[in-house]
Formats: sequence, structure tokens, C-alpha cells
Amino acid sequence: MVNSDNSNQLSSTAIQEALSDALKAIESAQSLDQLKDIRINHAGDKSPIALANREIGNLTGPEKADAGKRIGEARNSIKNALDDKNADLLIKRENEILISEKVDVTQVLANAKTNSFLTGARHPLTTIAEQISDVFIAMGYEVATGPEAEAEWFNFDSLNISPDHPSRSPSDTFYVESFDSGVVLRTQTSPVQMRTMLEKKPPIYVIAPGKVFRTDELDATHTPVFHQVEGLAVDENLTMANLKGTLDHLAKSMFGENVETRFRPSYFPFTEPSAELDLRCFVCSQRDSASKKECKTCRGEGWIEWGGCGMVNPNVLETAGINSKKYSGFAFGMGLERTLMFRHGITDMHDLVEADIRFTSAFGLGI
Ligand code: DAH
Repeated sequence: MVNSDNSNQLSSTAIQEALSDALKAIESAQSLDQLKDIRINHAGDKSPIALANREIGNLTGPEKADAGKRIGEARNSIKNALDDKNADLLIKRENEILISEKVDVTQVLANAKTNSFLTGARHPLTTIAEQISDVFIAMGYEVATGPEAEAEWFNFDSLNISPDHPSRSPSDTFYVESFDSGVVLRTQTSPVQMRTMLEKKPPIYVIAPGKVFRTDELDATHTPVFHQVEGLAVDENLTMANLKGTLDHLAKSMFGENVETRFRPSYFPFTEPSAELDLRCFVCSQRDSASKKECKTCRGEGWIEWGGCGMVNPNVLETAGINSKKYSGFAFGMGLERTLMFRHGITDMHDLVEADIRFTSAFGLGI
């Protein structure tokens, strides 16, 4: 017990008593909170042992040394006992949490209404990106990726897109931080072409699905965040015929053997010559010519645009350090949302972006 008399407070009995009180209290602690109080009471600034320690200053000579030694030992014992108990209680608490928060992963959740199991569904965009990748992996292509926040140089300049090209305007392209930051949210998967060419030597065969961004408002046919798949091949003797054969194979894998495709001349700064790949309109292709004119899907054209493609512009090959006299390349890029819309007759983009399980589950878990 605390006593104002120095000699009493520092007597070996008093210190022994303080020590044994402390050890008993520590021993009895049932929780970390209790141990915290015990630490304050028995080892804190106002604990008997700390008060006794302060009295040492009033002593001199061998008495001082002796009291100092005894108090030091007692304090050490208390500290060690507190540390040991703290470790025990931590383990105890963890074990209790493991039991109280146990999750039964084998428990079956039934949907109360239908009594069927609640399962998730893969989003059809994920599935189609994998399906397209698989078509190309089977032909020996590798899957390539690039960052979504992309250097303006990769997204535009390296692809032969001039500094004053309208697509660079902030009304079309999202700039990260500021217009002069040099970083954009990529507007196309085409920058993956340049990244790949700088990294690998020909022959190069890559397919790159990914997210792209443009400042469009969300409506039935547009979304500011959408997906494209990019393809690039660089090798000796590649021609437009290889490109057409490759894309026909992709079209058949996506839409069935009977799909009809055509190349329509077009322009992209990074390909020369360039083409638009069209598919024969699924909606009106079977109908007579009168109803074709009224077709809302192709607006009477008989064809719908699927993606862009062409032979890699020699300027782009040279930017990547590839000898354009020795190698040629072809490239293509198409929208995944568009592909799904054609394939499944989806008419509203909202269905694709809202991720409503009632919509996605119709596509099942297929991979
Ligand atoms: N990047 C183009 C776009 O977003 C699509 C494209 C056209 C990709 C031609 C290509 C290509 O690889 O060769 O509209």
C-alpha cells in the first residue's frame, strides 16, 4: 500500500507486496481492456511501484543502490508479466473472433421467391472478350494489354494522328487532370499496337481487348465507357488478303458460318490502306427489297458497320523501329458492345452498362 513514509514505501516488504499485488492482478485479467486498467494501476505513473521509485532520490549511498536494484527488478517482473499476459489475451481474442465470425461456406442460399439457388452471372462483355481472345489464341496470337490512363503520345501521336486532329479535342477525349497533362483516358485500344511493337520484335501477333473512353452521353447506342478489341499482326509478306481472311474467320466465330462481310474503303491515320468492315444486315438480309428500305438496323443500306481495319501505316512501323521495307502489318479494332448488340439483338445500351443480374444471367455462366 502507498505510504508517505519513505523507508516504508521502499522497504522490501512494501516492494514485494506491490509486486505480488501486480502479478495477482495481471494473472486475473480476462480481457485486453481489463489488462489496460491493470497496467495503469500497477505500472502507471501513480502505481505504488512508480511512487516508490520516486522516493529513491531521497536516499543516499548503498541504501539508494539497494532500493534501486529491488525496484528495478520488481518493475521488470511486472513488465514481463504484462507483456506475456497481453500476448495470451491477444491470441485468446483472435480465437474468439475466429469462432464468432465463422462463415459456413457450404451453406446453401435459396432464393425465397423461386426457391432456386442464387448464383452470380458473368457479364456478357467479359464473356465475349474471352471468346474473341480464344479465337485468336487458337491461331497463335498472344493477348496484350495497355493502361487505361494512357500517354497522349501512345493514344494519338505514335499512331500518326496529327496534333490538330479533331478527336483530340477535350470535347471528345477525357484528359487526365488538365488538357496539357499529356495523359488521356485512352479513346481506343490502338495504343496497345505501339506498346506491343516497342516491346516485341516481329513476327508479332496480338489481340488486345479493353476498356476505352469518350465524352459521349449515355443513350441507347452510346456510352462514355465502352470496350474494344484490337488486333495486330506484323510479319513478312502480310497483305490485305491475310487481314480479310482473319476477320472473316472472326466474323464466322461470332455470328455463324453464314455471315457475310465486306471491306469498304475508309481512312485511319494509322493504317494505309484503311477499310471499314461491314456485316450483311441480320435484320433485313432475308427480306425482300421493299422492306429492306425500311430496315431500322441498317437504314436500308443492307450492311452494318462492325469495325475499322487496314494495313499498318509504314510511318507507324518506323516509329516503332520496325523496318517497313522488310515487314508489313495489318490491324483492326471493333467495339464489343456493338458486337454483342448485333449478336443478341440488344437494342438499348443501358442494358449493357447497368449490370442488372436479370439481364446478365440470361447469358448464363458460359465461358
Ligand atoms: N481505333 C479505331 C477506332 O476506335 C478502330 C481501328 C481502325 C482500329 C483501324 C484499327 C485499325 O486497328 O486498323 O475507331
